[in-house]
Amino acid sequence: MERIRITGGRTLAGRVRPAAAKNSVLPLLAAGLLCEGPCVLRGVPDLADVDASLELLRAVGAQPERRGADILLPPSRPGGRIPTDIAGAMRASVFYLAPLLTRAGQVELPLPGGCRLGPRPIDIHLDGLATLGAQVDAGADRVTVRRAGLLQGADYTLRLPSVGATLTLLMAACCAQGDTTLRGAACEPEIADVAVFLRKCGARIEGAGTPVVRIRGMGGPLPGGADHDPVPDRIAAATYAAAVAVAGGQVTVEQCRPGHLAAFLRFLRAAGCEIAAGPTEFTVRRDPASPLWGGADLRTGAWPGFATDTAPLAAAVLLRARGDSRIHDALFQNRFACARGFAAMGARVRADGRDLSIRGVQTLHAATVTAPDLRGGAALIITALAARGTSVVQDAGHVRRGYQDLPGDLAALGARCAAGQTLSDVAKKNLLTVQMG
Ligand code: EPU
Repeated sequence: MERIRITGGRTLAGRVRPAAAKNSVLPLLAAGLLCEGPCVLRGVPDLADVDASLELLRAVGAQPERRGADILLPPSRPGGRIPTDIAGAMRASVFYLAPLLTRAGQVELPLPGGCRLGPRPIDIHLDGLATLGAQVDAGADRVTVRRAGLLQGADYTLRLPSVGATLTLLMAACCAQGDTTLRGAACEPEIADVAVFLRKCGARIEGAGTPVVRIRGMGGPLPGGADHDPVPDRIAAATYAAAVAVAGGQVTVEQCRPGHLAAFLRFLRAAGCEIAAGPTEFTVRRDPASPLWGGADLRTGAWPGFATDTAPLAAAVLLRARGDSRIHDALFQNRFACARGFAAMGARVRADGRDLSIRGVQTLHAATVTAPDLRGGAALIITALAARGTSVVQDAGHVRRGYQDLPGDLAALGARCAAGQTLSDVAKKNLLTVQMG
């Protein structure tokens, strides 16, 4: 079990650069299967979900290759069965539905089911594919999607702006026969980024990043390939910004798109941080002696609303703010599992389903806490930056699903923060050494 030790009390200073967005990279790795030409993705962070995606690609017959920070995707003829263990390890396996259906004519996906954030159905993915002419057989634990001939373009309205379903239908429609219009599509920057990649490969797409996307189907795989630099990770950028708000100091987050986290930066300003933003970087400053202001009433929503992935980070900022705050997560039922860890550090919080209420306290103290999920884990690490003493965040493997090295990044900014192993890991390693010796 991975764990991270954080000793609170240091302010942060310096510059940091977010990696390529996980939520672009994961669908892009799947989208590469649609192409007849070679693809390269630049600056891909070393994340657990990227490793799982590479394993999935190999399992379906592709030959991805990591060269330093780049991933090469040579053209392939993939097959359509996704191994259950890989599908279960990563929600992003759903991104392989459309590419495998398109290239192999059939795909079998063990159902991703619920996850720690709550139920995560894929009905919109399946309903949309059925509207394009696919035959969908959904069983209790797996779904099989087939096509007889090419998928056919259609006019389809998503019942809610799902990021994943928009990407599935975008990928499927690119290779279908005829034109597709997607209405009520999600507008997150990662969707526009995937569309840029697909266009480089020969797809004809207009309006990606808006609620109405028009796609002219190619009637087969995309003819080209692409060399692509995915958008910078806006949630990682928000994480660094939240860390400065909590710990105090001055940090510039460089080579990012501040406009992609505008709602979060507005929230930090209202909480008492100084923010200076340009087109490709922003600086967050907070005097650790000055108070943070609470009284926030936040509701997460689809882009350009307050991103659900930043809700636990906002909570970490508000724990010591003056005044009562509330956060409602409109997307996931169990977004605030991190509340338990906050409370262990002395915060006054109450999680009730989708709602978190916070009454700001003056001081927090160190504790041993458990990362419940990716963003909740990041929020606990950040909270510990301002807690008295040395905290330990257990089960930190969750955090590695979305950040290559969050403890290292924070340490480079001056935090006392390091990843470590549990005693049992050390004991196992010693035992192995003894046995091998
Ligand atoms: N939904 C349905 N049916 C569907 C699809 C979605 O009911 O067929 C519901 C979901 O249950 C949820 C809402 O729609 O309540 C939004 O889900 P969405 O499909 O937009 O999310 P996602 O594609 O599963 C991506 C990110 C998440 C991020 C959300 C929202 C990836 C790999 N994941 O998930 O990122 O929270 O969009 O922005 O892109 C994370 O990075 O930690 C993370 C969870």
